[in-house]
Amino acid sequence: MRALDLVIRGGTVVTGTDAVLTDVGVSDGLVTAIGRDLGPAEETVDATGMLVMPGGVDSHVHLDQPPVGAEMCDGFDTGTASAAAGGTTTVVAFAWQTKGSSLLATVADYHQRANQARVDYAFHMTITDPTPTVLKEELPLLVAEGNRSIKIFLTYDGVRVDDAQAIRILAEARRNGALVCVHAEHHDLLAWLTEQLVAAGLTAPKYHPWAKPMVVEREAVHRIIALAEALDVPIQVFHVSGAESAEEIARAQARGLKVWGETCPQYLVLTAEDLDRPDFEGAKFVFGPPARTKADQEALWRYMRRGVIEVVSSDHSPTRFDATGKKIAGENAPFHKIPNGIPGLAARLPVLFTEGVSKGRIDVQTFVRLVSTNPARLFGLHPRKGTIAVGSDADVVIFDPHKSVTLTNAAMHHGGDFTPYEGYRTQGYPVATYLRGKLVFDGQEVVGPAGQGRYLARDLYPMIEPLGRFTSPFNPVDRILTR
Ligand code: URP
Ligand code: ZN
Ligand code: ZN
Repeated sequence: MRALDLVIRGGTVVTGTDAVLTDVGVSDGLVTAIGRDLGPAEETVDATGMLVMPGGVDSHVHLDQPPVGAEMCDGFDTGTASAAAGGTTTVVAFAWQTKGSSLLATVADYHQRANQARVDYAFHMTITDPTPTVLKEELPLLVAEGNRSIKIFLTYDGVRVDDAQAIRILAEARRNGALVCVHAEHHDLLAWLTEQLVAAGLTAPKYHPWAKPMVVEREAVHRIIALAEALDVPIQVFHVSGAESAEEIARAQARGLKVWGETCPQYLVLTAEDLDRPDFEGAKFVFGPPARTKADQEALWRYMRRGVIEVVSSDHSPTRFDATGKKIAGENAPFHKIPNGIPGLAARLPVLFTEGVSKGRIDVQTFVRLVSTNPARLFGLHPRKGTIAVGSDADVVIFDPHKSVTLTNAAMHHGGDFTPYEGYRTQGYPVATYLRGKLVFDGQEVVGPAGQGRYLARDLYPMIEPLGRFTSPFNPVDRILTR
């Protein structure tokens, strides 16, 4: 009998449903055996006392994007190093169309940019310029090639789409079989509120959440759900920041709609008060939608436990705390000139585990579903990714549930010069990350080389098939009568 390449022995193997004391055998990059006494192996790793979990799947990661107001400080090399250091082995990153450019050329360009990736990756296509050529000619080719998700912004000058454009994108997503992910904030309302705050001289970072109160988000979430319902298109609402938006999603799900919600660790540990730190430090916490209240945090946990919010991603969107990034408009720039976004790839698993499992809010299987299994399923990567099962890629994080680490920027292994979680004390930390059976993070250093990450093309999968339910007997997307 041929020896296994690797056996991970003695740990508790956790999937989205089970936690079992057993061993995992790996050959040729795949999980090939689960059980006891797996026989000889080239290498054996002792995981006694550890959790052995599927590598994280981070389905919301900005890397190597063209500057929108600031320079992004992670490409696929450093960004995926950070992923590995945080126990994440798959990222879904954005192929970001700039206005006036071809979507085909954009995705081709991102294949080049991603050739330095250290973990596996897929693309969301960020559509900022939905011309007829993009929607009718380019999108179908790209979806058929395996890019099964689209990102749209309902706010941000230069990238946002209006409702008419959103409707056309939703229609093409339905025709071609792609999931639409949405940044939902009411642009005109937040722009007007910003104008009033600035005119009143209220420009410090702490006023950023005042310009983007919950109603700005809740209205846009409600609106995009209504559009998706009318066209019968599955959507995921990105970065749900609090109770009111989550409730919109819960109501949509109660109507039987394919509407999914995502939140991020920053909405679970940071609040609007963090933007009031002195010496412009509040700028480190500028992201949109903004961090909200403790009550919103507890509500998000409840919605996660109910399964309404099914995915916790990082929304890793890194810029430096210098003149290329957060201070691009000056040391004390008004809040609306501070670029939105924070780094978070490496912190995602440790922070969610600490807040969720160690503090008793969720069990460890729910944790695995939120950070790995559910994003893998929702984005068509499961069961290759997102689980530990015979036949799956041997993407594994060995996680010490008791390891306490004080987070620092250096521990994030990214290209940035700050982490919003500086000084945060974890209970639980990855001690080893394996990508397809190869060690990529040894608990201290990223050891997986740049360039070993593989592109993950995604076939059409049942989860994102439409319901076949319209508001009348007319299917307006295909212009046919349904009865
Ligand atoms: O503030 C944020 N979230 N910036 C990143 C881009 C986005 O909105 O997803
Ligand atoms: Zn967004
Ligand atoms: Zn984002």
